[in-house]
Amino acid sequence: MPRIDQETVNKILDTADIVDVVSDFVKLRRSGANFKGLCPFHNERTPSFSVNRARNICKCFSCGKGGSPVNFIMEHEQLSYQEALRYLARKYNIEIVEKELSDQEREAMNAREAMLAVNEFALTHFKNNLQETDEGRDTALAYLRHRGISDAMIARFHLGYSIDKSRSLIDAAIQAGYNTKYLVDTGLAIESQREGDKSLYDRFRGRVIFPVHSISGRVIAFGGRTMRSDKTIAKYVNSPESPIYHKNLELYGLYQAKSAIAKKDKCILVEGYLDVISMHQAGVENVVASSGTSLTEGQIRALRRFTDNVTLIYDADSAGIKASLRGINMLLGEGLNVKVLSLPVGDDPDSFAQSHSSSEVEAYLTENEVDIIAFMADTLLKDVPANDPTAKAKAINNILYSVAFVDDSVTAQEYIAVCSRRLDVPEQVLASQLKVLRAKRLEEAAKEAGRRQARESLENQSSEKENDNPEAQKASTVPDAPLLNLDTNRLKPFEEMLMRYLVRYGLLYITQIVQPDGSSMPGTVFDLIDCELGIDGYRMSYAPYRRTYDAIRELKEGTWHNDRDIYLKTLDEDCAARMAQACEKIRLTATSMAEIESMEKRAVEEIEAYRAEKINDFDARYCQEHLANSPDDMIRSTANALLIERYTLSRIYTKQENIESEQDQLNILVPRAVYELQNAIISGVISDLSAELATLSSSEIDRAAEIIKKIAEYQDEQRNLVKILGERIILPRTR
Ligand code: CTP
Ligand code: MN
Repeated sequence: MPRIDQETVNKILDTADIVDVVSDFVKLRRSGANFKGLCPFHNERTPSFSVNRARNICKCFSCGKGGSPVNFIMEHEQLSYQEALRYLARKYNIEIVEKELSDQEREAMNAREAMLAVNEFALTHFKNNLQETDEGRDTALAYLRHRGISDAMIARFHLGYSIDKSRSLIDAAIQAGYNTKYLVDTGLAIESQREGDKSLYDRFRGRVIFPVHSISGRVIAFGGRTMRSDKTIAKYVNSPESPIYHKNLELYGLYQAKSAIAKKDKCILVEGYLDVISMHQAGVENVVASSGTSLTEGQIRALRRFTDNVTLIYDADSAGIKASLRGINMLLGEGLNVKVLSLPVGDDPDSFAQSHSSSEVEAYLTENEVDIIAFMADTLLKDVPANDPTAKAKAINNILYSVAFVDDSVTAQEYIAVCSRRLDVPEQVLASQLKVLRAKRLEEAAKEAGRRQARESLENQSSEKENDNPEAQKASTVPDAPLLNLDTNRLKPFEEMLMRYLVRYGLLYITQIVQPDGSSMPGTVFDLIDCELGIDGYRMSYAPYRRTYDAIRELKEGTWHNDRDIYLKTLDEDCAARMAQACEKIRLTATSMAEIESMEKRAVEEIEAYRAEKINDFDARYCQEHLANSPDDMIRSTANALLIERYTLSRIYTKQENIESEQDQLNILVPRAVYELQNAIISGVISDLSAELATLSSSEIDRAAEIIKKIAEYQDEQRNLVKILGERIILPRTR
């Protein structure tokens, strides 16, 4: 997908109004200065989703999700940054210029795009076959109806049919001007294997077609099911691996299911195409299929973007569980919460969904889900003969080996308790066996990591030179201040405070900064912080903050002044027009010279106040707008998190959060946050020094004296800080 040019991006970001954008998904009601509604990211009965038009952000006070318009759309529609921009452009009828392709450009279009285009053509062709040809209607459409698939689902999953001839698709594609190379590359066409015969034939012939979509909805592959029950032919024919299709990264149905998965914060995993479709038809839309193979790490990563909760649907027999143990362990190892659901004997998700009503399916799902470990304990033990201790030990080991994948110690402890009860083995016995198995597992993981590292370092050697990501390069060349031994965990909360002010008000003027020559200049929140931290040569210790901080400096030194000038120009015009209007009114209403003078004076004051407020608004929002909509994932997510994060209010506030008063108090709040960070840094240094002191022996008396002196110095400095903090002095310190 070509990138959108910056000018259009700015236009989109300027136009997108948070109330407007959210209203497409959430029914909003006015509540004071804000709007409120039911959160679209989790299920709730009382509204905790709040939209602030003035700040152009939204947030859920319950689950914490929200952010800028782009962020909201990315999250809600599960789109990439570029896709979200396109969404907003469409919504506001902002044109993204994409020219028609000439023949030459069509050739130049990169192979990936060409393959996707050919797939798109094939999709239309297959859909047309199903609906518009006698052969398709009489065979495939009739088959789908016979299987109980509704027209709505046929449309939703773009089902189709491939004509039972050797070159139906190929001929149509050639006629439409597609290069056969891409038919072969996507696997839609197969080259004859016969010596000296280069002829092509269709891969899919006489089959019901199930297109496979990428997360963003492009067609990347097809599966074709035969309608014959002849056991000698393959039930499914599938697209081969290709540059656009990596089977082990894809989950069938994820594109159609992603919104429901995110909303329900849960994903149901089934095996087949028809299982997914029938479940959707029954109203259960958070379902995807691994397409017959066992789960892969790539698939889990894809899922992870949408939820941490996975429910596997299994046949009632234990063979299924044993076969998919590896997949289950991977899910547990990724920190996912895994549940299992067994269907009544003889049913698969497809048949179950087809033979029950929506509410019955929903009810069955919620009532029969069991945690995976408890489920394993029950099913694996069921097969163990009563008088076979070896078999029992084996089963227990199997279960514990899965528990060993759970990194979270609280969860692991819970599992031990569950197993102890179900297996009738004391907790301590299980716990010590778990330790053994965990060590074994870690050893295996280390071996695997070693292999992977070796592979990657080989790959990197060749790709390092062509690294075209300027951000990554910059990050590696800017050295971090090595001044102090900084403990990110300890300092992060203090840095967060500062970052929060920076993202919200970074380029707002709040103070006078004293220059070396004694004069002073107006300074922004960023100037104040940068000046203070600059004295210590301090850089944020938490990488996302550091990156965001640097981005603010770039804004300040880059586009800000220019954008501000442009803004001031239109604002001045606006003010002039207001003044003219006011004069006109005075002329019409005033009755004496004195009245004219006093009215004019008031008008000037009012307009000046208006102007000052507008400039303030512009400065206050500049950072937020650019950071919360940044194309850089790390900066954008950091900024949005800081904007929407629930925040414990400082002592200054008595009642609820009041943005106005926070903005008014910045000249106190920001220096204080700086001092608090400095205080924390010094505390860290002192405690490091004290720790060192404690290790010294009596022979190291010189070093000890040195440390004691240093500690005293730092304590002095700290006392100063505390004093400043107590007095809340506003002037920046000079050293
Ligand atoms: N599969 C495959 N090739 C096969 C058999 C199965 O690729 N020869 C994959 C398909 O993705 C299929 C899934 O494994 O959807 C599950 O297989 P199965 O349960 O046999 O098929 P269903 O899709 O359930 O189809 P049906 O209900 O019509 O038997
Ligand atoms: Mn099936």
